[in-house]
Amino acid sequence: MQNTSQVVARNLHLFDKSSLLIVGMPDDDLLSQIEYTQAFTWDYSVYSTLTRGGYKNVSWGAELDSDAVFKQVLLFMPKSKSELDLLFAMVSSRMDVGAELFLVGAKKEGINSAAKKLVSVGEHPEKIDMARHCQLWSVIKSVESAPFNLDDWLEEYEISAGDDKLTAVSIPGVFSHGRLDDATALLLDNLGRIPSGRVLDFGCGCGVLGAMIAKRNPEAMVEMVDINALSLYCAEKTLSRNQLKGQVYPSNGLQDVTGRFNGVFTNPPFHSGVKTNYSITETFIKTLPEHMTKNAPLRLVANSFLKYSALIDAALERFDIVTENTKFRVYKAFR
Ligand SMILES: C[S@@+](CC[C@H](N)C(=O)[O-])C[C@H]1O[C@@H](n2cnc3c(N)ncnc32)[C@H](O)[C@@H]1O
Repeated sequence: MQNTSQVVARNLHLFDKSSLLIVGMPDDDLLSQIEYTQAFTWDYSVYSTLTRGGYKNVSWGAELDSDAVFKQVLLFMPKSKSELDLLFAMVSSRMDVGAELFLVGAKKEGINSAAKKLVSVGEHPEKIDMARHCQLWSVIKSVESAPFNLDDWLEEYEISAGDDKLTAVSIPGVFSHGRLDDATALLLDNLGRIPSGRVLDFGCGCGVLGAMIAKRNPEAMVEMVDINALSLYCAEKTLSRNQLKGQVYPSNGLQDVTGRFNGVFTNPPFHSGVKTNYSITETFIKTLPEHMTKNAPLRLVANSFLKYSALIDAALERFDIVTENTKFRVYKAFR
């Protein structure tokens, strides 16, 4: 079990079996030890692992799918701290005054500063336990919360590449919230020819690449995949905000993608929370040929220090570096 789960597991006596919502749990076996009413995650990989493991009442989505109110909520620190305010607002809308919110997280993920924000829910947050470089906090809700509306958290920003302009729609916690990422900008300026037919935007975030592809070539049938429900929510919004069409759905790596694409465009992930994680993109690159039609192009942008050249070269043909600056490289290759 992960360290945060271990801290929860040694405090099981604190939890109310009759009405407990768990949010953002890892995909370990904590749920076999704790009696809960509902467990919720934005992470499709966690959701898939837990449901495959037979756990009941686990849900995935941009928002909780019922209006239920809980006596207790146990919140795992989100991967990005910018999600915290949104999460506090979301979960406290599911708690009456007097209900209890627990927050668990690792020191290196910033639990100390996150716990300070608990005063937005109740006046006297308390540190209940600390072990394995993690802390468990609790607060009794004393601040009335406004009704929660996810759309109130959306922000828009303008992006341009060449003569094409778009409005991106993002939300806290989604990659490059509020501003275009520099690596993505480099890829947008170097998209090359956009094929017609099925085109994949892998790890779409709020959908800037997929939307630009759809705008550049109306014959492209863009499919945008991501693991994070909030990313997919924003990608849908970005498409509709720009009157563009595309298919937006969850996939962990390429596991939930079927068939072959005439082109693949991506700024792929290299982080899981605070840790650098190359394995997702390595597996993605290795399995790409099974998902590309003959001569289909790949355009991938990444930090220059990431060693993707050899992997792409081994998986595909005609590998080349399209452009690079001090930080990023755009790679191209063909199946
Ligand atoms: C570097 S961001 C790029 C986002 C967007 N394409 C852009 O350029 O702004 C990588 C994206 O990959 C997603 N991601 C992380 N792990 C993933 C996985 N296993 N499968 C699919 N997507 C994943 C993240 O949620 C994130 O949105």
